[in-house]
Amino acid sequence: MNVLIIGSGGREHALAHNISASQKCSSLYVAPGNPGISQFAICLEISIDDHEAIIRKCREHDIKLVVIGPEMPLVLGLADLLRENNILAFGPSASAAKLEGSKFFAREFCRRYQIPQPEFKRFINAQKAKEYVDKIGPKCVVKADGLAAGKGVVVCQTKKQAYEAIDMMLSGGVGDAGETIIVETCISGPELSAFALIDSKVVTWLASARDYKRAFDGDIGPNTGGMGALSPSPEETNTLRDQIMHKILIPVAKGMVLDGAPYTGILYAGLMLTKAGPQVIEFNCRFGDPEAQVILPRLQSDLLELILIHCNQKQESATVSFSNDIAITVVMANKGYPGKYKRNSIIMDMDDIPLDEDSYIYHSGTGTNQKGQIIAKGGRVLSITAKAKNFREARLKAYKTVKKIKWDNGFYRTDIAKY
Ligand code: GLY
Repeated sequence: MNVLIIGSGGREHALAHNISASQKCSSLYVAPGNPGISQFAICLEISIDDHEAIIRKCREHDIKLVVIGPEMPLVLGLADLLRENNILAFGPSASAAKLEGSKFFAREFCRRYQIPQPEFKRFINAQKAKEYVDKIGPKCVVKADGLAAGKGVVVCQTKKQAYEAIDMMLSGGVGDAGETIIVETCISGPELSAFALIDSKVVTWLASARDYKRAFDGDIGPNTGGMGALSPSPEETNTLRDQIMHKILIPVAKGMVLDGAPYTGILYAGLMLTKAGPQVIEFNCRFGDPEAQVILPRLQSDLLELILIHCNQKQESATVSFSNDIAITVVMANKGYPGKYKRNSIIMDMDDIPLDEDSYIYHSGTGTNQKGQIIAKGGRVLSITAKAKNFREARLKAYKTVKKIKWDNGFYRTDIAKY
């Protein structure tokens, strides 16, 4: 079968790596892909926003399945359009992807189905939002309702921070995404990301992970898309997994069916493990980046077979197996990220880095220059993953590879999976 993956990040590199290993995969296309992916798949130069062009490419290359990596095309209805054109799509419909596309929709949905979450209120008026902050106290979270490329959440400790976040979002600081905001009470505890494969009848637990959102060691600095990750989460136990399944994931799947928007695909629930039990921070309608770079190397089942069983609505017959190994990934980013950074610095001799079968270098914001050298074009540029029996070994192995990367303009956290 010919398969197309949509996206260009480390997550899509990891998806492509697993899917290309399947006996069922004849030709693998990725749009637009990146230089790492192009070493083993065919990259198509099309924009992920041009859904009609994606359909045309599917016809041209006899592509029968499209795996959609990022959230934006899902929220904009790419999966629906593919299905209308009789092409299998891995990912939820636009109505189901609203769980990620609208924070307010997700909060109202949880309220209706008694899924545990913090208190919240929606606002379009800054004065009213500030009055609510005065009522609940300055420790709060201000969120843009729509997709804001990782800039739509501000965790506030003081009244000044909360007021500034409200003003910034409601005056267009994150574009249309901030026309409506929600203000939530702060909850506390360790964070855990839960990943499940969901169709209208079955919820299959996949894995837990933890990501490191802050830019610098010790969880300080600005929020990023993720500077590293590990899987499974050290907090995961059988009891906790059952709790998450029965209080959160299964009620989500049932609720979406009752609402007439059955959820299909990966559901990534960002959770906080509070003293009162796990509570929902947010939902995402796809694999995380860099969480995919630690979950997929642990997957022992054939990913393409699993996706096909799911797309053909036979998920109840799927068996999923993961290695007991720990995987960790360290993200190398351009100096200055998530703010301004220099583009096109050269990453030297990438092909000469020896990798054993439990080590991976996934590309994100890379490109090539006219001499064919790898250059850093984006903010997050490489994810260096290692798998081992325990955190210590996985850490040593991943950082050993990181140190071999010759890139003057790169930086990374040194405390990923430091326990
Ligand atoms: N690492 C966070 C995300 O993928 O949304």
